[in-house]
Amino acid sequence: SPTTDSPAHSASTASTLITNIAALVTNDPSLGDGSPLGLIRDAALVIDGQRVAWTGERSKAPATDNRVDAGGRAVLPGFVDSHSHLVFAGDRTAEFNARMSGRPYSAGGIRTTVAATRAATDEELEANLTRYLREALRQGTTTFETKSGYGLTVEDEARALRIAARHTDEVTYLGAHIVSPDHAEDPAGPSEYVALVTGEMLDACAPYARWIDVFCEKGAFDGDQARAILTAGKARGLHPRIHANQLSHGPGVQLAVELDAASADHCTHLTDADVDALAHSRTVATLLPGAEFSTRAEWPDARRLLDAGVTVALSTDCNPGSSFTSSVPFCVALAVRDMRMTPDEAVWSATAGGARALRRDDIGRLAPGAYADLLLLDAPSHVHLAYRPGVPLVTGVWRRGVREV
Ligand code: NIG
Ligand code: FE
Repeated sequence: SPTTDSPAHSASTASTLITNIAALVTNDPSLGDGSPLGLIRDAALVIDGQRVAWTGERSKAPATDNRVDAGGRAVLPGFVDSHSHLVFAGDRTAEFNARMSGRPYSAGGIRTTVAATRAATDEELEANLTRYLREALRQGTTTFETKSGYGLTVEDEARALRIAARHTDEVTYLGAHIVSPDHAEDPAGPSEYVALVTGEMLDACAPYARWIDVFCEKGAFDGDQARAILTAGKARGLHPRIHANQLSHGPGVQLAVELDAASADHCTHLTDADVDALAHSRTVATLLPGAEFSTRAEWPDARRLLDAGVTVALSTDCNPGSSFTSSVPFCVALAVRDMRMTPDEAVWSATAGGARALRRDDIGRLAPGAYADLLLLDAPSHVHLAYRPGVPLVTGVWRRGVREV
């Protein structure tokens, strides 16, 4: 945090009290009511610089430079959207229309976006990314992960990551989204493309990325290929996460646990052994209900995972093919209505759960020391996120202590 004491940033170094909070979600079970949400009623919170300095009952709040009256509304940690694909050009309206007339979703549609993305300039890609980020911020997202995967050449993957890295620390190399169309006719099959992804492309991409991901699925990469790709990434200092068990049963979840991936994402088609493996691991199951919504697919069973003791995160998967929503509140509502999560669980998963999926403890919670990434709802409780679906309830957003919305 290099600029906190410079005069230009003096507004963010002053302390600010947000008071008259009807319900404050801290995600710190040692605070408030002792539930996982660490809910404090009639609460206040103090921001000092980029961080939370104090939380508690409003009657006990310390004196500060500035004061914001929350007006009896709810405050919660900013959403941590730990899975998105935002470096792309074009859209897939025609494919969505066809799907809503009965055509199934398949990985093949990714090629349409690859062609549009390759044809776009850097400026166009960055303008698209910024537009979706702004859209997400207005809906409460203060941290997002995003991936490459629509370039699939050394240059196009590296440029996607270079652009993404200007906007987030949570950058994921997904050269293994599908086998590049340029390699579809290779006599040796996908192995030549896997060699590129684990060789020259990895070298070009590793400097910009924190994570490496593979779409492990029929029509994309099998378990052995995924293991080779993730292992090569690990050797270069990238940490694995994986698109697993989205469209069918497969080896992805077991592989995630075997490699200590931070997250196995989608988890729609799981065996009991998959659930058991996740429950005995550090790997988070990231559920992406926007994808099931937009592909009219069967819902992942969050209840089954939670009851087994699996840590669940909830994210948008925002991408032009399978889930063109940047709205975490929409995903929270779907998760409660259709994936059998309670509102408390869904809110936890979209905040603290996302932070776990990124192996972060400085975000996703509002306790002293954590980043002051938080949002103010135009509602008295976080439950309204599910109770009032489709309503734009996010009325204030602070990121790193600065009010952005
Ligand atoms: O997470 N599953 C693979 N990738 C994306 C979809 C990408 C696309 O269809 O463009 C997903 O759903
Ligand atoms: Fe995805």
